[in-house]
Amino acid sequence: MSSHLSEALRLEGLWAGTFGDDYVDRNRAAGDARQAFWAEVAGALPAAHTVLEVGCNVGANLRWWAQLRRPQDVYGIDINAKALHELRQEVPDVNALWSPARDLPFRDRWFDLVFTMGVLIHQPESTLPLVMSEVVRCAKRYVLCGEYFAPETTEVFYRGNSGALFKRDYGQLYQELFPELRLHSQGFLPRGTGWDDITYWLFEKV
Ligand SMILES: C[S@@+](CC[C@H](N)C(=O)[O-])C[C@H]1O[C@@H](n2cnc3c(N)ncnc32)[C@H](O)[C@@H]1O
Repeated sequence: MSSHLSEALRLEGLWAGTFGDDYVDRNRAAGDARQAFWAEVAGALPAAHTVLEVGCNVGANLRWWAQLRRPQDVYGIDINAKALHELRQEVPDVNALWSPARDLPFRDRWFDLVFTMGVLIHQPESTLPLVMSEVVRCAKRYVLCGEYFAPETTEVFYRGNSGALFKRDYGQLYQELFPELRLHSQGFLPRGTGWDDITYWLFEKV
């Protein structure tokens, strides 16, 4: 196995196993206060009919998209089977698929909007550009990421694990790696509002 992939496989194994299952148990209500943000995004993007969330977990975000768009046009992928099972139970009409983020099972430009929320932070340096390129590849028009920001890559020890959470300037990284992305808007979602000090960037492909 190439060392390029070994760190990605380690983290994917973490999220697919009991560590990821425990996250599901702790976060069933994580989306309760997120409606307003997604309604604002959906209102600003009337041309975004088909939507993919990479790393959707139990649907804290997709449950709102299923009300804002036709649920059959709403897709989520995740590597944790328990999360996908619960998403299918709770929001049965959305499409919930198992996949690693670095190899998305979709054609180029298949979705109007592709987004991550708190998922790039869990990718190792070695495969982060690959995951980002998969997001951009599958997006026809819009890319959104909401992640923990730091001006320089900063590792945060995460629930007993090292090499599992990195704050970075994800917005700048997207623009450096993919010059076809033009910044549409950005903002900050503070703790206590359904979010957790998340910085988000919304890009349009030009
Ligand atoms: C911190 S949670 C965020 C969940 C959701 N996006 C939200 O906003 O509530 C990270 C999610 O991404 C998934 N994930 C992490 N790394 C992944 C990878 N490489 N491929 C697919 N899913 C991944 C995890 O299983 C988990 O469901």
